[in-house]
Amino acid sequence: MSALPGSYEGTAVTGLDSSPVEAAPEVLAALPPLTAQTEAEAREIIARYPEPRSALLPMLHLVQSVQGYVAPEGLAFCATMLGLTNAEVGAVATFYTMYKRHPTGRHLVSVCTNTLCAVLGGQRIYEAVSADLGVGHDQTAADGSVTLEHAECLAACDYAPVVTVDYEFYDQQDVESARALVTALRRGERPAPTRGAPLTDFRGISRQLAGFSQHADAATERAAVDGPGVGEPTLIGVRLAAERGETAPPMDEGLPSPRPSQAQGGPRKEAVSQAQGGPRDGATGQTPTKRAADTAVASADTPAERAGAAQHHPDSGEPAGRAPAERGREGTDTPPTGTGAGQNNSVEREV
Ligand code: FES
Repeated sequence: MSALPGSYEGTAVTGLDSSPVEAAPEVLAALPPLTAQTEAEAREIIARYPEPRSALLPMLHLVQSVQGYVAPEGLAFCATMLGLTNAEVGAVATFYTMYKRHPTGRHLVSVCTNTLCAVLGGQRIYEAVSADLGVGHDQTAADGSVTLEHAECLAACDYAPVVTVDYEFYDQQDVESARALVTALRRGERPAPTRGAPLTDFRGISRQLAGFSQHADAATERAAVDGPGVGEPTLIGVRLAAERGETAPPMDEGLPSPRPSQAQGGPRKEAVSQAQGGPRDGATGQTPTKRAADTAVASADTPAERAGAAQHHPDSGEPAGRAPAERGREGTDTPPTGTGAGQNNSVEREV
């Protein structure tokens, strides 16, 4: 897992040095060089941040966009430009899965095999595509067309099972549609994603992730930005809420007030006390235990913390956990009007 092949410092930092990162000599020899333009673009990235080291993530995407992966040369380039050690850059490059440590194919195919996709067929899709390509996880087909990987949840569970190509979404796949997609990619085609920007290739999307346009002209770039962004499954919740007349709580509900006003017993503490159904005169603070519990409720930063503190308050009257009145209610129904998310059971009772 070291950043550089055989790198002692990489091993020392990560404690793990097993998987090979050294490409074959002919592959290294064929890598496109990091040019003066790469350096100029790196400086452009660095200028976006107050501290040079903050530019590391887009810098890694930049070298990946040129060479197809974070090669030892690209890693050392980032370290030199940012004043970091190779070990520091390697620790980052080996932590995030979007930074590849082997030469990648023209396209990166990611098959979600996380829970929801897996039960709906994601694992079968992965196995079928893997068999077609003759490769496993993080490996590249012999023709250099596709690198395959298992992916954890791609944050598109409402479209499961999901496959991405170069991080563009192909929703609600099955074994045959995914096999057809990969076959088309190997023929050099670029099937349109279900939503989002048109497909380019792995180096192109890496360039975009570095903060530069991957498109040849402004019109193409504009069209990519204007690609279809959302599908029906994402909107189902919105439609159901509209049908039921449900609305979201105000945006500022539950936001913490500045601590000084809390310390002074200012408006927030009073509001919290009222929200908990407590008395305005502070009569609950009659014992050290109750005073401590009041303080815990008043100083909570989030609705969840406040609910937890209130649940353990001596005046709560209910043990921690789900209240008996709640146990028969299943599902994800919106709480009754007047009780927002994060408010605890005792609050609902008192309201
Ligand atoms: S489990 Fe596959 S997108 Fe969430």
